[in-house]
Order: sequence, then C-alpha cells, then structure tokens
Amino acid sequence: MIKHLWFIGFVVFFLSRCSQPTEDGTSQGGVVAKADSLLALMTLEEKIGQMYQCLGRGHARVGDGEKARDLIELVKAGGVGSILVPGDVHDVEEMQRFAVEESRLGIPLFFNYDVIHGFKTIFPMPLAMSCSWDTALVKRAHRIAAIEASAAGISYNHGPMADVSRDPRWGRVMEGNGEDPFLSSLFTEASVDGFQGDGISHANTIMACVKHFIGYGAVEGGRDYNTVDIGEETLRNIHLPPFQHAIKAGVSSVMTSFNVVGSVPTVAHAPLLRDVLRSELGFEGIVISDFGSVGELIKHGYARDAAQATSQALDGTVDIEMQSRNYHENIKRLVEDGLLDESVIDEAVRRIVIKKYELGLFANPYRFATEKYIDSITLSVPHREIAKETAMKSMVLLKNDGVLPISSKVKRIAILGPFSNSQDILGRWSAKGDTSEAITLLAGMKKQFPEAEINWLNVGDFWENSPLPERKIKDLTRDADLILLAMGEPKEMSAEAASRATLGIPGNQQRIAELALESGNPTVLVLFNGRPLTIPWYQENMNAILEVWFPGTEGGNAIAEVLAGHYNPSGKLTMTFPRDVGQVPLYYNHYSTGRPAASSQYSSKYIDIPNGPLYPFGFGLSYSGFEFSDLIISRDSMKLNEQMEVSVRVTNIGEVFGEEVVQLYLRDYVGEVVRPVKELKGFRKIGLEAGASEKVTFSVTPDMLKYWSPVSRDYIVEPGQFAVMIGANSAEYLEKDFELTN
Ligand code: BGC
Repeated sequence: MIKHLWFIGFVVFFLSRCSQPTEDGTSQGGVVAKADSLLALMTLEEKIGQMYQCLGRGHARVGDGEKARDLIELVKAGGVGSILVPGDVHDVEEMQRFAVEESRLGIPLFFNYDVIHGFKTIFPMPLAMSCSWDTALVKRAHRIAAIEASAAGISYNHGPMADVSRDPRWGRVMEGNGEDPFLSSLFTEASVDGFQGDGISHANTIMACVKHFIGYGAVEGGRDYNTVDIGEETLRNIHLPPFQHAIKAGVSSVMTSFNVVGSVPTVAHAPLLRDVLRSELGFEGIVISDFGSVGELIKHGYARDAAQATSQALDGTVDIEMQSRNYHENIKRLVEDGLLDESVIDEAVRRIVIKKYELGLFANPYRFATEKYIDSITLSVPHREIAKETAMKSMVLLKNDGVLPISSKVKRIAILGPFSNSQDILGRWSAKGDTSEAITLLAGMKKQFPEAEINWLNVGDFWENSPLPERKIKDLTRDADLILLAMGEPKEMSAEAASRATLGIPGNQQRIAELALESGNPTVLVLFNGRPLTIPWYQENMNAILEVWFPGTEGGNAIAEVLAGHYNPSGKLTMTFPRDVGQVPLYYNHYSTGRPAASSQYSSKYIDIPNGPLYPFGFGLSYSGFEFSDLIISRDSMKLNEQMEVSVRVTNIGEVFGEEVVQLYLRDYVGEVVRPVKELKGFRKIGLEAGASEKVTFSVTPDMLKYWSPVSRDYIVEPGQFAVMIGANSAEYLEKDFELTN
C-alpha cells in the first residue's frame, strides 16, 4: 500500500513538475497526454468530483460551521473540482491547499465567479458599454476586470453573457450587448479577448465562459426562465452568432441556459450541444450547466428523476454541474449498473483537466492568489480613469434642446431624485464592487462645478406612489438655473429574476418631474436604469435626457464631465426604446409583413400609437451635429466573387469636436425565405472637429449577405436585389440599391 501511494505521488509530482502546460510551450497534444496520464490514476469518485462545482464555504447557501467543514472534507477527498463564489484571497489559498496538499492526487481547484462588468473597479453594465460601439474599450475594461479578479484568486469567469434580446421586459438585458447579432458578436469576442488576454496560461488572465447557450434572451413575455419558442432560422441568424464568435476567440467554456428550445431544456439538448456546439462549431472546452439546472430537468417535466436528469445532461456533453448534486449522487450508480459508459465521464474529465493544465494550475496552483498585489492594483487610479472613460462613452444623449452642455451662466443647480447622491449606481452583477467607493452624481457635480451653488434633495420612491415633500421640491427648484432629475430604476429591477411587465420610470418619480417643471426652469432627466424604458412623457416635457444606465464606480464624475461638455456624448443605443410596453418585442431588424403599416386600413399597425419606437436602434445625439451626404457605391452590380466599396461623406455641422458612429445596413429584398428590412453589417466611429468632414468607406462583400435558410438548411448567399443604407441610426440613412449576380 505504501509503495502504491509512493508511486502515485511520484507520478503526480512528475506530471506537475516535468511536463508543464502550454505556459512553457507544451503543445496541445502534450497537454492531452498529461490529462490522459492523470485520468488513468483517478478513481471514478475522483472523476465525479471534478465534475462538481459547489458554492464557497462563506456562501449563505452552504453556510458556515458544519457545512463549511463538510466542504473542506469533500475537497480533501477529491470530491469537488471547482468552487463558485469563493471568499477572499485567503479562502482561495486555503481551499487550494486542501485540494493540492491533502487530496490523494492533488488536483487543483478552479475558483469561479461572475465577473460581468468589473471585479472591484466597476465599469458600466454591459448593455451600457455596448452603446459605446467601441470594442477596444470594452476589451480594455474586461482586461482590467481580469487583472483584478485573477489577483484575488479567480481563475474561471462566468461571463461574458452573449444572449441577444429583443425584449426589454427581460431583466437580464443589462448583462448583454443588446438586440443586434452582429454588434453583439463583436462585443462578445472583445470580452473574451479581454478576459483571456494573450491566452489563459498568461498571468492576469481568467478563463471566459460564454453564456447562456442558447436562446435565453427570447423568453416569452420577457419573463425570466420562461419558455423559448423560436424557429431554427431565428436561432441561427440571431442567437447563435455571438457564440460562434466567442468560440472563434478561443473561449474556454460555454454555459447552458435555463430555458427550453424546441421543447427540450438546453442543458439536456443533445442536438444543440453535441451536433451544433461540439461538432459544427468545433467547441472543445468545458460545457457547464447553469445553477441547479440539471435538477430542474425534473420540474421541466423532461426527466423522471435525478438519475435520468444526470444521464440526459451527460448525453448533452455537460461536463460540470453547477451547484446541484445530481452528478455527485447518481453517476457512480449509473456506471456500476451498466447504464452509463465510464468513457463518457472520462471525456468530460479530460476536458476539465486539460483546462487546468492550460491555465497553469498544476505548475502553480496558487498563481491566482497574489495577495501582495491586490491593494496596489485593485481600484487603482488608472483603473478608475478607464472606468470613467468607459462610463462617459456609454452614455446616450436622448434629447437636447440646447440646454446641455451646462453653460457658464448656470450658477444654481438643483438635483432631485433617488439617485441624487446615491452610491448604489454599480448595477447588479457587480462582483466585489463596493458601493462605498462609488462617486455619486452630487459628488461629481460639486467637483466639476466648484463655483456653482448646488442644492439637492433625495426624494422619490421606486416601489410605491407614496406622497412627496412637495413644498421642499418647489422651494428647491424655484430659483434654480438648471434642474437635474436623477431618476430611474433601482438595480433590483434589472438582471436575473427581475423581469418587469411595465417599463415606465417607477413609483412616484414622475410626480417629482411634474413639480420641478412647475418652476418653469430648464430640466434635465439623468436616467439611471438597466434596460430600455418607455419614457414618451419625458421626451415631450424635459429639456434634455441623458441616459447614464448603471455607470459604475466612477459614475458621478463621468456624468458631470458629460453634462459640463468636457466629453461630448457619442453613445448610440444598442436596444430599441419602445413608446409603450404593448409594442414589445420591438426591434429594428424585423420582417416587412405582407401589410406594412400605413399601406391601408387593414395593415399591420396599432390603432392607438404609432408602430415606430421612441428611440430607434443606433440612435444617440451629440453636442455637435452630423450631416450625411454623397452616398456613392463603386458599382451597381457585383458578382459572387467580387466586392464593392460604398462611401459617404460625414460633416460635423456643429460648433465643437464630436464623434459619430457611421452605421452600415444591408437589405436583401427577396430571398428563399423572407429577410429583415435591414441588418447592421458594419460601422465606423469617427471624430470630427467643428466644420470638418470625412469620407467614410466600407467594403461590401457577398459574405456579408449570407444567412441561414431553413429551406436550404444551410448558410447561403442568393443573387438578387439588395439595398445598402448608411446613416446615423437605423431610422435615418441614405440608401442605394445594387444587384448581386452569379
Ligand atoms: C446565472 C448564471 C450565473 C450563475 C452563477 C445563475 O443563476 O444564470 O448566469 O453564472 O447563476 O452565479
């Protein structure tokens, strides 16, 4: 026995010391061989352990005391492969020590966390960041998040979220990149690049896990976890592209979703997971279930019991079960009873262990817990600077009658509303972000306008239409040169399990605005929120509206700089803002219908409101003005093996430097199935001095006209008539037709 242990010890030592992972140049083949050698030493129980992710010991659901001890014993027994939401860096180090020094094979643990928009330094929520239309900026934000998270011991991120959504009722739209598959693909790719840097074996990187595969953004009624019922063409043309891009970028892991697709829960959807994800897209990394979703197969009515749920998820190649213990409790018996081939388990464990090698965890299990750096790097001045820049670039100016930027004549500013001096502006999924580090609007304004008299009132109730201190509001606003209404949704109203059936600014906040308007003084809505809201009343009554979302740690400074005009807003919406919740889902890349609105009385329209949005996809104003002219296409017709150039002239007709996002849309007039009225296929963000103009040129290639057709059951490009549109948003553009020929 002693001899035997000595031998195992030697092999493990040999594996970990002599054959380092890709970090030192070991080939992928070498990593696989090492994983196989390790696999050969593992008992079935140890393999099952690698497939179990449990919550950290400090987590409420595990609790302290007995359960924490249970967890330690489980780790020592090799019964856990990853820990979700670990404690601080000491906790990570200690748990890793139990795994590496006290378990039989010393296999290191992954430490998982949801690093969605920063770790300690919090950036604007992802939907906001996508409004920057600046992928390099988003990559930089996630690079910083990875630097801070990896220093605290995190090795495996549960992000980015790549779910495309057309329904603002769904609270999780705040975690994604909006309604467009093309834009969302670019941001997903940039996010993976940011988290994984030059490769996961490099210092300061964390594994990225793209989620949630798939269709989760299409939950019926926008109600979280609800049924998804979409055709394969929508699945492939709208929901799949960001996942394809994440895989192209080398994402390490994919998380399944909570919903069904085609009446089958995705965590057990073998055709989607095996055939599409693994075979067609070639994904070789780890597939992880979402929190408890293997067990939920029973509630879905797809599995009779936990054993069947286990088999179904394994059949879908789900390698790690998050939080619930179905794998733990059933795999061994299924194998012993001959109902499950151990080779299925081996495949899953091989994928898990390969990533641990690639991360360099065998070479240095503590590489992620670098306590000595934490204080110097987290929330550092440069990180905060980039958080501020990201926040400024994420803001969208929705209306401005000229009251912004704030003129030097403004001496008295009144700030009212629940966000006036609130530090609760990080938004949900803000990892280890600390609200006490956040800069409030009031603090930002005081810093930016030291000469002005700034009065403020924290009034407003998000949840109830309760009475307001009306006299105080009137007193505060009566003599103000400018009123800022810091209003919107509290963070609890967006993200997971926070769907809304109504989309207005909630509670008694509109009354605050009404009282402010009674003063007759210029009034600006500074809107904090996690999703598109229905704000036609504000559009009509405010002098200006600045969409600031949940802007993160540097929020107040960023808003104040934009209001002061030190940064000229350049953000553009990546989700349509409806006029009314009854229009939802409302999105720019819709089909035409056989009876387009206004074609006759019997057309596809509402009788009570216009069809169109309040603010279309791609919309956002600037303190400058931009004129688009001279749309030129290099040819009227191109062959399948050719490409053409399309150019437009953009002129800054305003008085200050500004940035414009020049957007390229294409339309396929007739297809073997109907095609959207337009689809975003390119964009360029340019900066122009006042009076300057620039010719912006795009190449249009047949590849950009490709789509998945349910008739051909393939990706096709069809010869025919097309339109090219270039403009400032999806509703304002110049347009020309061209032909694609064989
Ligand atoms: C969410 C995932 C998340 C996981 C762990 C789940 O409820 O759907 O997105 O990664 O929790 O926090």
